[in-house]
Amino acid sequence: MNHRTKEGPARYAEAFDPLEVVMRYHQETKHDFSRYARALGYMDWANQPDPFRRYEGSPLLPLPRLKPDDAPFSPRYEDLYHPGAIASAPVTVLTLSRFLEYSLAISAWKQAGEVRWALRTNPSSGNLHPTEGYLLIDKDPGVSPFPGLYHYTPKEHALELRAELPMESFALLMQGFPPDAFLVGFTSVNWRETWKYGERAFRYCQHDVGHAIGSARIAARTLGWRMLLLDGLADDTLGALLGVDRIQDFNHAELEHPDCLAVVWPADRTAAVSAGDTNSLPLFLATDAVRDSTRYIWHGKANRLSRDDPVQWEILNQVEVASWKSSTEQRVVELDHDRPSMETLINPSADAPSIYPDQPSAGQVIRRRRSALAFDGKTLISVGGFFTMLARVMPRIDRDLCKRPAPWDALPWEPAVHLALFVHRVESLAPGLYVLVRDPAKMAPLRLAMHQRFAWTSPPGCPEDLPLFLLHEGDARQLATQVSCHQDIAGDSAFSLGMIAEFESSLLRHGPWFYRRLFWETGVIGQVLYLEAEAAGVRATGIGCFFDDPVHQVFGFNGAMFQSLYHFTTGGHVEDRRLTTLPPYGHDH
Ligand SMILES: Cc1cc2nc3c(=O)[nH]c(=O)nc-3n(C[C@H](O)[C@H](O)[C@H](O)COP(=O)(O)O)c2cc1C
Repeated sequence: MNHRTKEGPARYAEAFDPLEVVMRYHQETKHDFSRYARALGYMDWANQPDPFRRYEGSPLLPLPRLKPDDAPFSPRYEDLYHPGAIASAPVTVLTLSRFLEYSLAISAWKQAGEVRWALRTNPSSGNLHPTEGYLLIDKDPGVSPFPGLYHYTPKEHALELRAELPMESFALLMQGFPPDAFLVGFTSVNWRETWKYGERAFRYCQHDVGHAIGSARIAARTLGWRMLLLDGLADDTLGALLGVDRIQDFNHAELEHPDCLAVVWPADRTAAVSAGDTNSLPLFLATDAVRDSTRYIWHGKANRLSRDDPVQWEILNQVEVASWKSSTEQRVVELDHDRPSMETLINPSADAPSIYPDQPSAGQVIRRRRSALAFDGKTLISVGGFFTMLARVMPRIDRDLCKRPAPWDALPWEPAVHLALFVHRVESLAPGLYVLVRDPAKMAPLRLAMHQRFAWTSPPGCPEDLPLFLLHEGDARQLATQVSCHQDIAGDSAFSLGMIAEFESSLLRHGPWFYRRLFWETGVIGQVLYLEAEAAGVRATGIGCFFDDPVHQVFGFNGAMFQSLYHFTTGGHVEDRRLTTLPPYGHDH
């Protein structure tokens, strides 16, 4: 938040209609052929924000830097999606190190001439990395003698102690969660994205949060852990628990916007909260636990990231306030521990031979994930591989959270994003426009909202339970490039796509704070597709720059019912040989 008082958001929210503000923000930050969303128009390099936050004066606890072959060993990538394939690891300093490595760590350094920059396991728009990660964990012999709130520092792969928690405070906080559970939190230094992208930046920060949620959920899965967003929590509560509302610790430093908090626990402990046949997990924290945060002993002051104060954009301040979740919802979800499907993917191709050429481990795929800078314009991907990639983003809902595969089991809301695809080079599939209806219950409204001339035929060989439809046959390469801000990566790939959100209805049903969730969902989809591409021997890139309404026109969407929020592209990539790659922490990690 740019407001330096904790009361700011609530007070501002009363002054205008938050829903109207969010809708206006979205409309005004659209790119179009004739006009890009407002930004400075030049890069103020001297004022570029530091991508690494530190809390000066807070004790730094280095995490063990694990090699790929060190325990805890990484399961095969495929096993992330196979029932019962991964045993739960205990929560220790080693497994926490692995969890953070696979979620947010540096995965490589790149160098061009004298310039060097870090890449991470989670991607970020413009590689600006607004997302900061926090842990609220119990005392652990390998970490510290008391429960604490820690800030993760990717550059050092270390934890900074932000606050010491009395034992009773931590116990109160974890009330209702399985034994050995801990909390992971994300915040955004929005200024890191605003610095480059101006008014559209808030959207990119939300995408990045979604990618971080996806990378953390998948990291947890490699360890046999579960993860669930505590989505009932109010943003004030998040701010207080993560310490980002402590104005006194951010005196001259750029503020962090609280985004989300998730509970993580070893899956085999799920049954331990059982009272009878099912487990109820709260999506909020006990009020007493939240009040208790005043008893934490705080450490450190946030570092200043830029030379000058953040450039202020009125509409960004407004949308931050309007999408603020101002009250806690006391929601619970049922986790049925009797059914093995709870923890795993109902994988349509589980019995088929592996489609991944070199049978990579999950760790290999996670570490080598990179954005393609260019595609070769010729690589075909197999139709089986294509169907599997799309199957991975299917949440397979029975409106029942416990039946969803990872990472979709981490998002406690009904999926609201579908894929509109530009297929260019998929073996034996006709090039053209396709749609993947991620929630088949939404087929009718989608069909009604799209061009009536569309064919809606199931492509040959498409698995019965994959709701993929050919809409219009034809060469869509130029079209895809044009609507993706003329970026060749959208047309030279095997396929690109727009993520189409049930926009207006979601905001009306849940409230304007759900705006951010829609972007988070797209980020998780992107994260899954990034890893799928790596596993299949191709590569992907997220695309935040696209012409919003021209995309809508291609598919026939009118009004605000459906909106494209994020684009994505996958194919055979071309390496940039001018760049040198260096290991993440001075050795091959
Ligand atoms: C939300 C989001 C939007 C992005 N938009 C674009 C884009 O429009 N064009 C592009 O070439 N790359 C885009 N990227 C890729 C980033 O530039 C890339 O993630 C970043 O440079 C870090 O590199 P890495 O993904 O290899 O770690 C986007 C990435 C994200 C997460």
